[in-house]
Amino acid sequence: MKPLDDCLKWLPILKECAHTYLNESEYDQFESLSSEEVAIQLVNLLEKPIMSFTVVNDVYFRARWAEVLQTLHPEQDLTLLEVATGDADMIPQVMARTHLNGRYITANMNKSLNASLLRKTENLGLNLEVIEDDAAHIAEHLGHNAVDIIAFQHAINDVIQAILCDRVGIDTTFSDWMETLPRMIEILQQEIVQNTLELHAKEPFLQLIDTLLQVLKPNGIIAMNHYMFQLDLDWGYPPALFEHMVPLTRKWLREVTECEEIAVDGFDPQWWIFLQKKSS
Ligand SMILES: C[S@@+](CC[C@H](N)C(=O)[O-])C[C@H]1O[C@@H](n2cnc3c(N)ncnc32)[C@H](O)[C@@H]1O
Repeated sequence: MKPLDDCLKWLPILKECAHTYLNESEYDQFESLSSEEVAIQLVNLLEKPIMSFTVVNDVYFRARWAEVLQTLHPEQDLTLLEVATGDADMIPQVMARTHLNGRYITANMNKSLNASLLRKTENLGLNLEVIEDDAAHIAEHLGHNAVDIIAFQHAINDVIQAILCDRVGIDTTFSDWMETLPRMIEILQQEIVQNTLELHAKEPFLQLIDTLLQVLKPNGIIAMNHYMFQLDLDWGYPPALFEHMVPLTRKWLREVTECEEIAVDGFDPQWWIFLQKKSS
């Protein structure tokens, strides 16, 4: 696979990033690793599908999203909407350190992942709001021109999976996401074999983007990233789809006329998309 990022950039600054983006006990964990172990974990993280969840992953993803926020909206008054957060807390963790006066909102349907997210973030002191609803309804909650950045942190695949589940009547709100994942993967396998993914998922995905563009301020940005988990591949996730989730989505997104893709230096288009809402 194409590396997610440049190891040589991150290795020399990882300790400083750990100091900035980890809490005390996480930092102690980081400090307990030898520099050789840190280097091995970083290479594994950036150059292979992710196999383990380590404190090195936390440092890297928090520091990477901090770069995104710093580049796109360094001012303190950031209002950010995350779509399909699950219980992945990297963006709230970053905002608590870089934009403590900002506002973090997530549109996240799954009940138990929301409960877990709230537990993980309860001591951050961040203005954090969970909207337990489909992001396709977000304009009803937030109105128009309300947010500066919309983030899909490893969420393109989850949104597509939820769309496909909804189509065939599989609940993803009240169920356990990981217990449902094998069924989601089966559906994706069928979609690939029958060549129907675009037919079944593109329109609802683009409708969601249309709604998101309503709540985004003019010139605001939708930032999406992706990476692969080895577990999903082991369970049969179609490998070419998983690896090329961003290029596939980019092809669909070209039909949206209210925004355009912008290049952001240092972010590989294989793993990132940045869309800017046009000003009029
Ligand atoms: C596995 S978690 C995502 C975790 C996170 N994005 C990550 O991988 O780092 C999947 C989450 O996506 C949410 N989700 C999927 N489609 C959604 C939508 N259209 N609106 C809101 N939440 C959605 C699910 O409800 C669930 O909470």
